[in-house]
Amino acid sequence: MFWYAVLILAAHASRAYSQSDGSYNGSDLDAPMLAGGPRGGQGAMLRFGCSQVHPRHTYSAAHHTDFCFCQVVIERLDPLVNPHMNPSAHMHQIVGGNAFNASMPLEDISQLATCTTCHFTQDLSNYWTANLYFRARNGTYKRVPQMANQFNDGDQGGITIYYTSPGPNATTAFKPFRPQGFRMLTGDSTRRTSENLGKNMQQCYRCFSEPNFGGSMYSPCFDPKWDTDHLPMQDCPGGIRSNIIFPLCWDGKSLDSPDHREHVAYPVGGPPSFSVVTGTCPESHPVKIPQVMLEVNWDTRDFNDESEWPEDGSQPFVLSTGDESTGYGQHGDYVFGWQDDSLQLAMDNQCYLRNCSRLPSQMPPDKNRCSVPVTAPENIDGWMDVLPGGNMG
Ligand SMILES: *[C@@H]1O[C@H](CO)[C@@H](O)[C@H](O)[C@H]1NC(C)=O
Ligand SMILES: *[C@@H]1O[C@H](CO)[C@@H](O)[C@H](O)[C@H]1NC(C)=O
Ligand SMILES: *[C@@H]1O[C@H](CO)[C@@H](O)[C@H](O)[C@H]1NC(C)=O
Ligand SMILES: *[C@@H]1O[C@H](CO)[C@@H](O)[C@H](O)[C@H]1NC(C)=O
Ligand SMILES: *[C@@H]1O[C@H](CO)[C@@H](O)[C@H](O)[C@H]1NC(C)=O
Repeated sequence: MFWYAVLILAAHASRAYSQSDGSYNGSDLDAPMLAGGPRGGQGAMLRFGCSQVHPRHTYSAAHHTDFCFCQVVIERLDPLVNPHMNPSAHMHQIVGGNAFNASMPLEDISQLATCTTCHFTQDLSNYWTANLYFRARNGTYKRVPQMANQFNDGDQGGITIYYTSPGPNATTAFKPFRPQGFRMLTGDSTRRTSENLGKNMQQCYRCFSEPNFGGSMYSPCFDPKWDTDHLPMQDCPGGIRSNIIFPLCWDGKSLDSPDHREHVAYPVGGPPSFSVVTGTCPESHPVKIPQVMLEVNWDTRDFNDESEWPEDGSQPFVLSTGDESTGYGQHGDYVFGWQDDSLQLAMDNQCYLRNCSRLPSQMPPDKNRCSVPVTAPENIDGWMDVLPGGNMG
């Protein structure tokens, strides 16, 4: 019910968001949004888009090549798991602040970044996930592009970010302990078996059975028919969504841990429905942090011709981790980079979707301009014989 109401209200907001010709007139995107909305008491829930700035292809006479120099960024880098390694093991789609590079392991990046591809300008964090590829019958691969999420019309692909908190002062919004900042990882790029969607809802896929994100009004990972922890087996006329739900309990001390996971935990009894933010934290991880969720929409519509699908009837999409069929290896990385206590204020003051008087924001054309140089250039969008990195987890 809650999720249904969120979508209805957001639909009203989106009407003022973009003009019929796709341009923006500078009005407050959220003006008509959510007067009084269904905010579950005193709780807060941010929902906003971070663009994946499209590759800008530039011909380099010096190198006789035509490749992208400028995006935040689809690139084989992973400063969390493979710091300093360039290129890293597998491809990622990265959004957020422009401090991102292969060697950003310990800094509080809100001090280093100067722009962000996210809606709220004080969010200089970085977020990244695995990419998706289509494997044709002849064995070659092509990257499946992201598409702007519902109500984020002006975004270029990207990732939608959610932060929820059940009430004022109910969560600790990560905090940097300068000069270092918080980071975490959820999911496992090497996983190839089910963890059981019902028991451990940390990542799932939705098959949009109708165009325009249609077919289900359930909250993420709760639709018994269209949500699965593996990639959908059938073609999805509206594309495929990936949701990644981070832990919401923290040990209260460590900004990171050797595997980037141990310092955080899910509540005892497993993750509750996203947006409810209940559950008891284990004694080892007593501090509640905001619930972070990433949402990626892949535009699979160009790849729904089943005559190009595997002859054995399996589905044709593979993750950049080298997960050739299951999708269980999806994962999300988070490097906290909110300036000062901006996120804490948003969580403690009932901010809702993009309505947050505490947080300055920017229009899509501005966030789409934020970029970092590509430092690991390679073919990202052509047909390729092997996945970038050679199908490594
Ligand atoms: C911007 O566009 C919206 C939606 O079309 C409209 O309601 C609003 O009045 C416009 N604002 C300005 C300043 O033109
Ligand atoms: C935005 O949130 C504030 C604070 O909760 C609320 O008072 C206001 O009505 C909301 N604005 C809109 C347009 O819904
Ligand atoms: C990465 O960013 C840090 C901090 O901005 C900077 O000191 C370092 O030189 C950068 N490294 C690379 C390889 O660009
Ligand atoms: C493989 O199949 C795809 C999709 O039909 C096609 O676009 C591509 O050119 C083919 N590649 C080769 C090497 O045949
Ligand atoms: C939250 O904490 C702040 C600072 O300690 C305090 O001023 C405020 O009253 C608290 N709000 C609630 C609802 O407890």
